[in-house]
Order: sequence, then C-alpha cells, then structure tokens
Amino acid sequence: MKEKIQKYFKERFGTEGTLYASAGRINLIGEHTDYNGGFVFPGAIDKVIMAEIKPNGLKKVRVYSMDIDEYVEFGLNEEDAPTQGWARYVFGICREIQKRGGKVEGFDSVFAGDVPLGAGLSSSAALESCFAFALNDLFNDNSIDKFELARIGQSTEHNYCGVNCGIMDQFASVFGRKGNLMRLDCRSMEYEYFPFNPKDYRLVLVDSRVKHELKDSPYNKRRESCERVARRLGLETLRDATMEMLDGVRGDITAEDYFRAKFVIEEKDRVLAVCDALEAGDYDTVGRKMYETHRGLSKDYEVSCVELDFLNGVAKEMGVTGSRIMGGGFGGCTINLVRNDLHDAFVKEAVSRFEKEYGHEPRIYDVVISDGARRVKE
Ligand code: GLA
Repeated sequence: MKEKIQKYFKERFGTEGTLYASAGRINLIGEHTDYNGGFVFPGAIDKVIMAEIKPNGLKKVRVYSMDIDEYVEFGLNEEDAPTQGWARYVFGICREIQKRGGKVEGFDSVFAGDVPLGAGLSSSAALESCFAFALNDLFNDNSIDKFELARIGQSTEHNYCGVNCGIMDQFASVFGRKGNLMRLDCRSMEYEYFPFNPKDYRLVLVDSRVKHELKDSPYNKRRESCERVARRLGLETLRDATMEMLDGVRGDITAEDYFRAKFVIEEKDRVLAVCDALEAGDYDTVGRKMYETHRGLSKDYEVSCVELDFLNGVAKEMGVTGSRIMGGGFGGCTINLVRNDLHDAFVKEAVSRFEKEYGHEPRIYDVVISDGARRVKE
C-alpha cells in the first residue's frame, strides 16, 4: 500500500510528502454505550488508512482517493464543502481544526486503505484520525492533544456527515496501542490499557458483507430514544440510570424507548463484568457476556439483521466461547472469541453455511491488535 501511494503521489504531484496512517477498530464489548456516557472496550487493528500529504502553498486541498479512484479539490472555507462523501471527511477535519483555532493551509494528498468499508470496523474514523493526526503534525507542531484529535473526528461526523456518533471509534483509532485493548469511560474520559494476549483463544471477525442501508438514520434514532429516556429520568445521560428507575417510568415512555434504555443499562454493567473476568482470565464469562450483548442488540436495541443473527447462531451451535454483532449494526461483522483448537473448524463451518444460506461467502479476519494514528517511518 505504501509503495502504491508513494508512486502515485510522485506521478501526480511531482514531489514527495510525508506518510501517515491510522487504524480501524474492534470493540470487545460496550456497544451504543459511548453516547450514553458509559464504558467501551475497543482496540485498534492492523487495517489502516494511509495518506501521503504535503503542504502545497496554495489555498486549496487537492486529494485523491486511490480506492475510489476519484480526485477532488476544495478550498478551506465553509462554503467550499465538497459533495463527495469521502471528501467531506477530509474537509470536515480541516474545518474542525480551524474552528478550534488551529491552522490548516493548502495541501496535496493521496490515500488508500485496507479497512473494509461498511464492515463496522470504522474506516471513516481511520480516515478522520489519519488526517487529523497529519494536519496536527504538519501545521500545528502537534499542539492539539490526542483527545481533541478524536473530538475533531467526531465533530466531523456530526457536522459534515450526518452521524451523531459517540467518541469510541475516533478514540480507538487515535489512542490504539499494539497488543492492548482500552477501557474508556466515556463520561470522565479516563482510560486504561488492558494487554490482550490470551494464550488459548483468539478474536475472529466474520464479515457478512451485507450493509442494510436504512432510511431515517436509525443510528441517530437510537440515540434520540436514549436521550428521551434520560430526560424523563432527570439525568444527563443513561450512565446513572438503573433498571429500577427505568421500571418506575415504564408507563410514561414508549415500549420502544423502554427496551432501548434497558439494553444500554445492562450493557454498561457487562463492560465492567468483562473487565473483571479478563483480569481473572475467565474467558467463559467474557464469552457469555458477548452472547448476552448480541441478544440485547438483536432483540431490545434492534440493530442486528438476519445475516448477523445467523452467524451468531452458527457460533453458538459450534461451541464458540463468545460471539456478537459488532459496531453500529445493520450489517457488518460478528466478533467471535474462539478457542484456538476450534478456530479452523469454526471458520470453515461459518463460511460454508453462510454461503449456502445467503449466496456469498463472508470474509474472515483474524484480529491483530495494533497501533493507532502515527507518522509512518520511511
Ligand atoms: C458506531 C459509532 C460509535 C458507537 C458504535 C456503537 O461505530 O460511531 O460511536 O456508538 O457505533 O457502539
């Protein structure tokens, strides 16, 4: 990927820039908890977006996406926003840095990536973090701190891409560290690295390669449900809600909102239980919690789909330790905690049964927990 980008940059711009990369992410547990002030447990992976960048002394950005094979130019004022979805991420990062008083001048860039799109691995956060990190390095002497870089990515989603996401993906992409998962408290923003290197297990992603494009931004709708219930309880977020409190207002809220909030309250506790279990080396409990999360995401939060429920069922039947849908939902991957001795048989069975049912093979990724945003060494 590196050579491909460098070759093209040289051809297109006749010079050489600096290379940066940032990673996609997995999340062991803690889904849809970030925007509710709860805990998440992500890690960066070895799939990245990589960009070569060089200031061009002009007042415009010239950027080429190798994977989409599209070239876009835009200025740096609000009215210069490009229409292409992928370019809006880059534009948004520039604007959000400027809004915070940071400096961004014109630059040239070529980028490519191997984070699969639409698989729930946060290719968009990888793209945002790559550019946020790079522009901080190139124009701001790295004076913007890492949390702010993550927030710049998150604000880009909110203000330029229409997704009211939480902070997990950008946090993971910026803070990721090889061999470590991270537990983040999304209210206090305190975080802790957890070395994750189980001897007898590994994490495997099964990518259904389906993405259900749903109308009316269902992600934002889930968030609105949670915010409505929090308001009804007189709380800032569901972080401080309990099932007793929720049951106390059950008659005043819709059944839909009730089940959304129920999932979030339960999921919050599951993250903490998984941390304790990990520290005790108790992977059976970790896995059981993952299955509980899947059930909640499927039945209460309703962000799963038949393909992902099917893959979860296959994992369960085969005795896989833990399995659940991962990320925002409506398609993408399941994340599976699999005993080493079951790995090959599970992968074989999941691929063949899924193919038989849905007519195409899922993709398998063995998770390698890696570093987040960085300057790529020459
Ligand atoms: C998406 C969002 C995150 C998070 C997850 C669900 O990936 O970008 O902020 O809410 O969904 O856990």
